[in-house]
Amino acid sequence: VTVQGGNTGLVGGGVPAAGSDTVLLSLTRLDEREPVDVAARQVTVGAGVRLSALQQHAGAAGLDFGVDLAARDSATVGGLVATNAGGIRVLRHGSMREQVAGAEAVLADGTVISRLTGLPKDNTGYDLTQLLAGSEGTLAVITRLRLRLVGVPAQRAVALVAVESTAAAISLIGRVRDELPDLQAAELFYRAGLDLVREQTGVPEPFTEPAPAYLVLECAGRTDPTDVMLEVLGSADGVLDATVAGDLAGQRRLWAYRESHTEAINAAGVPVKLDVSIPMGGLDAFVAEVPGAIAAAAPKARLILFGHVNEGNLHVNVLDAVDEGEEVTDAVLQVVARYGGSISSEHGIGRAKVPWLHLSRSPAELAAMRAIKNALDPAGLLNPGVLLPDD
Ligand code: MLT
Ligand code: ZN
Repeated sequence: VTVQGGNTGLVGGGVPAAGSDTVLLSLTRLDEREPVDVAARQVTVGAGVRLSALQQHAGAAGLDFGVDLAARDSATVGGLVATNAGGIRVLRHGSMREQVAGAEAVLADGTVISRLTGLPKDNTGYDLTQLLAGSEGTLAVITRLRLRLVGVPAQRAVALVAVESTAAAISLIGRVRDELPDLQAAELFYRAGLDLVREQTGVPEPFTEPAPAYLVLECAGRTDPTDVMLEVLGSADGVLDATVAGDLAGQRRLWAYRESHTEAINAAGVPVKLDVSIPMGGLDAFVAEVPGAIAAAAPKARLILFGHVNEGNLHVNVLDAVDEGEEVTDAVLQVVARYGGSISSEHGIGRAKVPWLHLSRSPAELAAMRAIKNALDPAGLLNPGVLLPDD
């Protein structure tokens, strides 16, 4: 059985292996949304509820959901939990697992386990809900979720900032985090990505002069962050230009430069997609080293880097390297391992990254993961070939 939500995954975790006789189990019809529990700031929803539908449902009750990402109109909450998705607000609210207060799931033998009371304190043994977060459908089929909600900030401002280098972007994040406690997103992209987005979508050049790198910063809180943002950006080293939008249309316009990356890349060709995180201290050196590693594996490749800079999470997208996909993946992930990074920061392992899982997980960890899988799904019925190699 291959379990599928909105089918927006980027590592093939919800897609049956070619030529396999797997049954595809789509959960998109489990789209029930129970009334929001305003007192608990929680809601119980079916696994097939789309992220944007959850956001609207929470919004109608004066609340919001902590995770947001570009695939919001298609991705389902079941898949988001199964893959422990991250997205653009991890720096404020954490990844998907932090939003989960309980789950109902069906085990491989048909047993239903249900823990939906959402008690904030519940110290009664193994946390099975958290075990399912990030298990990629290999341990159980998540059918319902109890999710935490967050308050809606009254004021929001978004900045697009042109910076002279990766190092400047990293030091700006440090400063912004100190001086703008309402920061909730910090996204990085580079000139090559902006050129591609402009080519594919026709959006205008954001500033009079082109820059090597760009940041999208979003602050949201009780008071209007615009003035402090302008002040910080106006005095920070390495900032070449900046613009701040206080109105929704302007904010969407600035976000589009970052959020159009995936679609622009897909429109330009079939990319080799990698999603890595690097310890902050090595991020700048990694960005400098990775083009050489890719060029050695695929001389004609075009590299588009972007990502969630606060977590050291970079999406390494490589165009014009379809034939050398494995070599490129291997070259980049070896560099990642050398820097002590993760070979999958937020997309998961799926089928695509199974051969490289050992670069981020020790033999002891892999053996423990295998033991858990065998205990809950001894016949290997759920998502065979996903996350762990077949026995
Ligand atoms: C993003 O941050 O936009 C997503 O992870 C999608 C992607 O990597 O293409
Ligand atoms: Zn991402």
